[in-house]
Formats: sequence, C-alpha cells, structure tokens
Amino acid sequence: KFANLAPTPPMGWNSWNTFTININEQLVKETADKMVSSGMRDAGYKYLVLDDGWMSKQRDAEGFLVPDPKKFPHGMKALVNYVHSKGLKFGLYNCAGTQTCAGYPGTRGYEYQDALRYAQWGIDYLKFDWCNSTGINAEEAYTTMSNALKLAGRPIVFSLCEWGDNKPWLWAKNVGELWRTTGDIFGCWDCAENKGTWYAWGAMQIMDKQESLYPYGGPNHWNDPDMLEVGNGMSEAEDRSHFSMWCMMAAPLIAGNDIRKMSIQTLDILTNKDVIAIDQDALGMQGYRYKKMADSLEVWVKPLINNSWAIAFLNRSHKELSIHYNWENEIVNDTVHHRILDATIHNYAISNVWSNKAIGSTEEIMISKVAPHDVLLLRLKY
Ligand code: DGJ
Repeated sequence: KFANLAPTPPMGWNSWNTFTININEQLVKETADKMVSSGMRDAGYKYLVLDDGWMSKQRDAEGFLVPDPKKFPHGMKALVNYVHSKGLKFGLYNCAGTQTCAGYPGTRGYEYQDALRYAQWGIDYLKFDWCNSTGINAEEAYTTMSNALKLAGRPIVFSLCEWGDNKPWLWAKNVGELWRTTGDIFGCWDCAENKGTWYAWGAMQIMDKQESLYPYGGPNHWNDPDMLEVGNGMSEAEDRSHFSMWCMMAAPLIAGNDIRKMSIQTLDILTNKDVIAIDQDALGMQGYRYKKMADSLEVWVKPLINNSWAIAFLNRSHKELSIHYNWENEIVNDTVHHRILDATIHNYAISNVWSNKAIGSTEEIMISKVAPHDVLLLRLKY
C-alpha cells in the first residue's frame, strides 16, 4: 500500500447512514459547501465519501464503471474537481464481490480496471465492501485491490469493509489504512435492529465488540468501528458519549448525518477540537476499557503523547451517577503499549474536556456527577 496516508484516523463524511442509495450531484455539492462553511473541514473532516448507489447498473462496452447519469449528469470527474476545489478530498465505494450490497456492479475480476478509472477521476479514498463474495478469499481479494490501487499510481486511502468476518486486524496492516471490525452501526444507543438476514447494532454494541482489538490499531492501520451516528436520532448525551468513545478508540471519524440540516448541538459535538485531539493524538493508540464499576459505570483509558492520558467515565445506566474517585489507588499499566499512569509518583493535572475546565489534580479525591448515558471525559497531564 502507499506510505503514510493515514498517520491519524481518517476523518470525513459518508452518504450511507442518512441517504443510502439516494445520492446525487446536488447533495454532494451542498455537503461539500457545508463542510467548509460549518467549520467541519477545518476541524479535520476532509474526506467526502459516496457510498453504495453512485453507479449505473451496467458497466460500459469496455467494462468501465459508469456513474448513474440521472444522479450525476456532469459525470464523476467534474464532481471530484468541485470537491477538490473546496479543499476537500473525495472518496467512492465499491465491493470485493460480484455486486455491491445494493446490486450495482462489483469489482470482482475488474480490480485493475476500476483502480485505473478511480485514479483518472482523481479520487482519494476507496471503501471496499463484502457483499456477494461467496467463495472469495478475503485476504486475497483485498490484497489484489490494494495492489491495483498502488499500480494505478494515485495515493488512495483503502478502507476495508468485510465487517470483521475474516479478522482483518491479523492480516490487513499492509493492505489498507482502516478496516471495519463489525457489521453495520444503527443510530441508537443500546439496541439491535433486525434487518432480515442480519442485525444492525447500536453504538454500545459496536463499542463492546472492540474489546479485544485495541492492540491491533495504530498509525496507518486503524480498527474501524463504523461511521458516526451523531445527529441521527440519539439524545444529546448519547451523541456526546458515542463521539467521545469513538475518539477514545482512535476510530476513523466519518460523520453520517445530513450536515446541511444539522442542529448547532450536533455541530458542536462533531467539531469539538479538544475531543477530536484525543482521537487524532499522534501516538495513535487505541483506548480500552480499564474497568467496570458499580451501576454500569465504565472507565476507559487512552495513552496520549507528552505523558498525557484521556480517561472516560461512561455512564451506561439510566440514572445519574455520582463519582468519588481516588486517583491515589490508580496505577494504569498498559501492558500492550507499556505506558504507565502512576498517580503515586506524579501529580497529574485534570481537565474536563467537554467543559474545557481545569478540575484539580490526582492528589485530590475527584467528585463529580455523570448524567444517564453521558460521559465525563478527562485529560490528565503531569
Ligand atoms: C454494508 C456496509 O457495511 C455499509 O457501511 C454500507 O456500505 C452498505 N453495505 C452499502 O450497501
């Protein structure tokens, strides 16, 4: 694969969670404009990615993919140029199988030809799905596409989307920049949505499925717990927690809401620079659950550069919880990354990341409250 295309987790927007296959030129232009005017681009969201549904049902006579002429009357190249002119990067979607999940032409057997066309169009990101792949070996199929992109010569971030079925964290480090670890996310906190042949999971289910994967993520090879559902129907506290926990997990931050119509609360969550800084921290370490406390209160930790740590107290219960926390008892020894948080040796200053306030140090007992489904997100530094 190309070198160093994603030293920190990729950030952007993707059409699927809100629009499914109902996408078009106008939507892309308005979204690009809004990514700039809302401040999302400057907060780091630089990839605008079209998911399933952008193609015609047939390839052309020479076997090339064709954008749906009704949805994209000016073709793909003009649209990519428009997005680039806004200081953004552009992404497309296809599938390792014979057809995409929505029934458009898949890439199986056309890897080199499709890569060539993407490079000609000037795309910067490819999400590669896994429907209609019976009998196909995932590692081979994704490696073939990775090689095809490399040969086509244009640096393109490669996003694997085989839902964790083939444990890509064990083999995809040199194949792509990110890989999905689960099935699809659904815009709810703690739920499972029956889709007939499969289930879409709430934010908490997806988060729990990352439990054992934190050693495998890092610069240019990220675990991807799927796109964001911020602004798609959860409460403000739930959105804040969902966003915080994706940042704790060093997840790719791909917004999935209609940003043209988002509320100010949604925008504030998506663009909080101190929370994003936890996700984008240069060490690139994925946070993990440190302990479960009483009343469904969980403590997550993420080592950061410069002897800093992000700590999240996540309230998964239905009631407000009081926290009395004695840091003196805490020695977090991260056995994977060999970082140690030791409040007996160092006195860490603590700040509340969402409120942007200093709240004391690890020499004191921390006393706080967390609303139901909300999070207390801290940064510690000595
Ligand atoms: C399944 C993927 O997991 C989703 O993110 C989305 O890309 C759809 N396929 C599109 O059909």
